[in-house]
Amino acid sequence: MKIAVLVSGRGSNLDAILKARARGSCRVEVVGVAADRDGTVALELARRHDIPTTIVAPSAYAEQAAWDRALAEQVGAWQPELVVLAGFMRIIGPALLAAFAGRIINVHPSLLPSFPGRDAPARALAKGVKLSGCTVHVVDEGVDTGPILAQAAVAVSAADTPEILHQRIQRAEHALLPAVLDAIAHGDLVLSPSPGYLPALTQVTASMFWPPVLKP
Ligand code: GRF
Repeated sequence: MKIAVLVSGRGSNLDAILKARARGSCRVEVVGVAADRDGTVALELARRHDIPTTIVAPSAYAEQAAWDRALAEQVGAWQPELVVLAGFMRIIGPALLAAFAGRIINVHPSLLPSFPGRDAPARALAKGVKLSGCTVHVVDEGVDTGPILAQAAVAVSAADTPEILHQRIQRAEHALLPAVLDAIAHGDLVLSPSPGYLPALTQVTASMFWPPVLKP
């Protein structure tokens, strides 16, 4: 399955995808990596792997809609079957959404629908939750509101800072996201393009998608 990955930062999820791919446990081809700014670790990682990259910076466009169209055009040129938002810190617009309807997925550091949006680990800690985790979901026009594909839970420790909790959540992301991609690539997880659908899990084992709570 050909995937394009959209990044803004460190790219640890992109790294996890590439490592799982090298192990044979994530049967995808990363056909391109798009970023909203230059100078990110994620872009360097893509270049080191000889993956085509593009930078589509909002500041280069007079309005949001033009940026959205440019992003849709550049990602579309790679002809990916799926678009993966892996730490992409922008809300994508209608052009990209329409071009890949139901074929854009995102990884988010909370157990959605709790704590959508930015700084999810810090807000989860502030609320005193005892369980957090990550969610892989289909992207719709809302902020972290699309159909949930898979989640993994982690325990929250009383001693956690937002950074420590986020690191623990990221370890869960690095297992979950490649597993979800492999399940989609292999036809175990079926994405339907019709609006309002709930994705159907066919043959995956429950433990892969609902792993036991990880100890802090
Ligand atoms: C991840 O925690 C992801 O859930 C959130 O942004 C972070 C990106 O991390 N959307 P990285 O750039 O993949 O290291």
